[in-house]
Parts: sequence; C-alpha cells; structure tokens
Amino acid sequence: MSLAARLEAELEQFKQDGVYKRLNCLEGPQAARSKMQGRGEVVILSSNNYLGLCNEPEVVAAGKRALDDYGAGTGSVRFICGTFTIHRELEQALARFVGCESSLTYVSCWNANEGLVPTLLGEQDIVISDQLNHASIIDSIRLAKAITKCQTAVYRHSDMADLEDKLRAAKDARLKLVFTDGVFSMEGDIAKLPDIVALARQYDAVVAVDDSHATGVLGRTGRGTAEHYSMVGQVDIITSTLGKALGGAAGGFTAGPAALADYLTQRSRPQLFSNALPPTVAASALAAVRHVQQHPERVARLQEHARYFRERLVALGFKPLPGETPIVPVILGATAKAIKMSELLLDEGVFVTGFGYPVVPQGHARIRCQLSAGHTRDDLEFALSAFKRVGTKLGLI
Ligand SMILES: Cc1ncc(COP(=O)(O)O)c(C=O)c1O
Repeated sequence: MSLAARLEAELEQFKQDGVYKRLNCLEGPQAARSKMQGRGEVVILSSNNYLGLCNEPEVVAAGKRALDDYGAGTGSVRFICGTFTIHRELEQALARFVGCESSLTYVSCWNANEGLVPTLLGEQDIVISDQLNHASIIDSIRLAKAITKCQTAVYRHSDMADLEDKLRAAKDARLKLVFTDGVFSMEGDIAKLPDIVALARQYDAVVAVDDSHATGVLGRTGRGTAEHYSMVGQVDIITSTLGKALGGAAGGFTAGPAALADYLTQRSRPQLFSNALPPTVAASALAAVRHVQQHPERVARLQEHARYFRERLVALGFKPLPGETPIVPVILGATAKAIKMSELLLDEGVFVTGFGYPVVPQGHARIRCQLSAGHTRDDLEFALSAFKRVGTKLGLI
C-alpha cells in the first residue's frame, strides 16, 4: 500500500471513530467574538486568549513597529548570526515578571520544554513528572531518556504521598528534577506548589513548573502559579508560553537562576539549531507583558468571569469540575457526546471544543470552556443560554 493510500485509510478510520478534527476558519482576529467562515459571528469559549490581548491595539502596533525596525527575522540561529535587542529586552522583562533571574526565549513553549530536560539531565539524574503533565513535558522526558539515559519516574496526579515515595526512591540521584504543570490544561486545576516545593527542599530536588496556562492568569497581577501561592521567587525553573495570555502569537521561554539562560544558550538543541523568535512576535509579547503590568484589572476581570461562569453553569444543573482557573471543563463521558454537544453549541453561535480520547482518558470526554478578560457579561449570558438549550436537548440538565 502506498504511503498516501495508508494515510487516507487511517484518516477515514478517524472519521468513522468520531475522532477526526475539523479546523474551523476564523475570518477576523481572535477575540471574545469573531467571524467564523460559513457561520457568521460566534462567541469563542475555546481559546487561550485569556487576557484578550491577541488583538489589543498596543500589542499589534508593537509587532508592526518591530517589522519596520528589524525586518522579518534573524535569518539563522542566534549564536551564529546575532540576536536582536528586542529579544534581550523581552527576556529581561519575562524573567522579572515571573520572578526569576534570567530567561531565554524559544519559538514555542514546546521547544522550551524539549530544550530543558535533555540539556540539564545526565545518566546519574532523574526527572519526576506529574502523570497529567502536558505532552511537551512528556516528550521532553522521553527525549532526555533516549539521549542521556537519565532515569524517569511519574507520580499520580497531584498525589504528594506518591511524589514523596518517588523522591525517597531517588535519593542517590545527582540531580532530582520535579516537573509539573502550574495549571493542568485539561482539568483546570492548580499544582500543589507549596507542598511540591517543601518536598523538593526536603529531598534536595529542583522544581520546574510549566506555567503556560498560569502566566497572565493566576495571582493578583498575573505572575502565575507562584504568585497565586505568594511564592514568587521560590520556583527554581519556570517554562511558559507567549502563545496564550501574552499576546497569543507564538513563542515560549525558560526562566531560572542567572546561569540557566546562559547554559541553555550553550547547550540546548532547539536553541542551537533553530531560529530565534521573529522580532514581530517578540515585540508583541513584550508589549503584552507591559500591558499586563499596567493593567492588573484585566487579570481580576478574567478571574471574576471564571468564578461567575462556573457558578452559573452549576446553577443551570451542569457539573463542571470544581476549580479556580478560567479552564472550566464539563465532563460528559463518551467522546461522541462531547463532539455532539460542541456541534450543537456551534449551531447556537458558541464555539467550544469537545475533547475525547486520546487527548483525555477513555470515558472522560468533555467540553472545555475557557474564559477571557475580553468577554463581556453579555457574551457570557449569550453562551450560558446556549448551554441551557443544548443541555436540555441532550438531557444533561
Ligand atoms: C502546559 C503547556 N505547555 C506547553 C504548551 C505548548 O505551548 P506552545 O504553543 O508555546 O508550544 C502548551 C500548549 O498547549 C501547554 O498547555
């Protein structure tokens, strides 16, 4: 069978299994409401545009200026052909924002994660990972294991007794790296950072937190999981994305002690063998960081929307997973049910994606709602009345 024929057969099977993903095309910017091809205006409840900065005039204008100032890109890898001053400015601002001494940007947080574990660990070291960590952390660990023969362990999701068992068993390792998401993207729950840091101190381990869903989202001023727990400055390493709350274009970074960014510049392979963040994206992200620092009320609005939406869903009779973040999952069970609900909501003008196996475990398919500071109360009311109609039609409430 030719490659093309094999791929076509597998794609057909995805369709029959109800797991085929169709891309919805937007005809305008990412925002609380946007125009979807063939659908007209929809309320978007399915984006990581947490602060509504994707189309914020200051953020867009900064990107345009950088295109004029620096052109389209570096044309090569930073250490070979030079970096731009805007990269350095962004990295200093990011480090300060998340409470670390240094940071280094990558073209995605996927790359930041992938560039971290294989670079820091060797054969005598171990990485201990939460069971529900993001795919980029999992792949980073797989890569590290294959390249460096480091040891690996996985602890049950947010189970501190299990983490302690794994740390105790790893007492002879040189470096013990505990890696966790700050906010878990499918559940919307927050890592137990105070316990994780306390255990790490007790067992002489280093803590890395992927704050992709927490940067700009958690804490009074959006500085992330550490600020949520009043622990800014106490996390050893933070990775995060620029592709969600901070402008939403693309890019990621790793932040940590002063030597970390320098070390990653020397050794991390996505840094050594791949181009820098485009200057337009770097400038937009820098403008986004400054915007958040000047407008903490955006973070407060996001948190208030999340609380209100969750409360109203419960009042309607839905059972969203409890939590404090703007990720509000409603568990429906079968994948087909989640996809059906998503389709019916789109018919009502609400865009929210259903997630099924293999993204979440079998039988735990869900609709994952995500709030944005860009939403108005009217947007939320519009979405809630659609949920009421669809939930009634499907016999869920
Ligand atoms: C926890 C987490 N880490 C990393 C990433 C990857 O981010 P990026 O889009 O910057 O590669 C995501 C994106 O979904 C994420 O949720």
